[in-house]
Amino acid sequence: MDKFIVEKSGPLRGEVITDGAKNAVLPIIAATVLTGEKCVIENVPYLKDVEIMLKLLETLGARTSFSEKEKKIIVDGGKILNNSLPYELVKKIRASFLFAGPLLSRFGKVKIQMPGGCPIGVRPVDLHLKGFSLLGAEIKQEHGNIEISSPKIKGNNIYLDFPSVGATENIIMASVMAEGETYISNCSVEPEIINLADFLNKMGAKVFGAGTDNIKIIGVKELFGTAHKIIPDRIEAGTFMIGAVITKGDVTIKNVVRDHLRPVIAKLKDMNVDIEEKENMLRVRCDRELVNTDIKTLPFPGFPTDMQAQFMSLMAVTNGTGIINETIFENRFMHVGELNRMGADIKVESKSAIIKGVSKLTGTQVKATDLRAGAALILSALVAEGETEISDIYHIERGYYRIEEKFKKLGAKIKKL
Ligand code: UD1
Repeated sequence: MDKFIVEKSGPLRGEVITDGAKNAVLPIIAATVLTGEKCVIENVPYLKDVEIMLKLLETLGARTSFSEKEKKIIVDGGKILNNSLPYELVKKIRASFLFAGPLLSRFGKVKIQMPGGCPIGVRPVDLHLKGFSLLGAEIKQEHGNIEISSPKIKGNNIYLDFPSVGATENIIMASVMAEGETYISNCSVEPEIINLADFLNKMGAKVFGAGTDNIKIIGVKELFGTAHKIIPDRIEAGTFMIGAVITKGDVTIKNVVRDHLRPVIAKLKDMNVDIEEKENMLRVRCDRELVNTDIKTLPFPGFPTDMQAQFMSLMAVTNGTGIINETIFENRFMHVGELNRMGADIKVESKSAIIKGVSKLTGTQVKATDLRAGAALILSALVAEGETEISDIYHIERGYYRIEEKFKKLGAKIKKL
């Protein structure tokens, strides 16, 4: 099993370039199922989750190629005949469920299982299924298998009880070739939804209002191949921002969309961090005494749950007490135990973590319990006395491209074993 060994490092300095957003590329890979023509996707990071989505596409009959150097995927869906996905792959990644909408749309039928993914909460798919059912699909659930079928998808009004990112994506993809119009209200407004809608519209779909909480989709007869570029990963950018702050360094993060990072920028400024904004880059400097803050995770444009663990690492070594209220996932504090093993003083009470800043952390053996929790451990390890050994780093590699190399370039003492 691979591990990261991290030693206490001095201030991080230099430049880092953000890769394409994992959470944007995964639904777009699923959307390629909607056409038999060739699709080219650019600015794709070579990540484990991306590889799994491509394997799933191949089991459906598609031909795929993925160049790590060119960061490019080519999908030829001309030979997709299968509409059933194998449990061994579906269980590995929650995003596998995003094939349900496009397969239903293209074939009128899909056989899939309850998905896997990071163990950060129960993560049901009821909102996805409710949407499919309102589009006229029949849903059968037995022994963990889900069979969704509809000879003809029909547009409808769909209200989401919660602005779920995945449900919004799946319902959009299920309805792009529906008969009539579909309206999704209280939908997710995350930047990744806009990136998906742009891709679908380039394929010939008619999706209006992505980025607002009311989306309208006018069904079209067919979709075509296209080329598309993935937006920068706001969570990767945010992780390096914390890297700069926690080590009291000076890092310029390139290839960012600053508006996607508003809550992260605002919270760091509250903590006394100096952030310079220019075009598509952010310079993050920290040579002042930090003050602790409070955070509440919310759907976009609120503070992202995917940055919660990394902020906790920073708050754990900042003077004063801060509170994090996690409102999106019910089990997203697994990193607390690991941070406390390093000397942090954090208590969890229901949906809140109370963080009392300590003057030092000490390196030890810790385990990445999920993707962002793993990133948080690297950040804490950069300032912990001595050496930290982080195991189960496959979680981290699901969502960060060569993270150790990027940190090393900034001066971090990190190696992969
Ligand atoms: C996506 C992101 C993930 C991020 C999350 C929230 C991808 C591949 N992953 O996950 O990194 O942390 O958004 O920003 O884009 N829920 C239901 N029923 C459903 C669907 C969701 O109750 O049918 C609940 C979930 O259990 C969770 C909340 O809604 O408590 C948010 O989930 P959702 O927005 O769907 O997240 P994902 O799309 O899974």
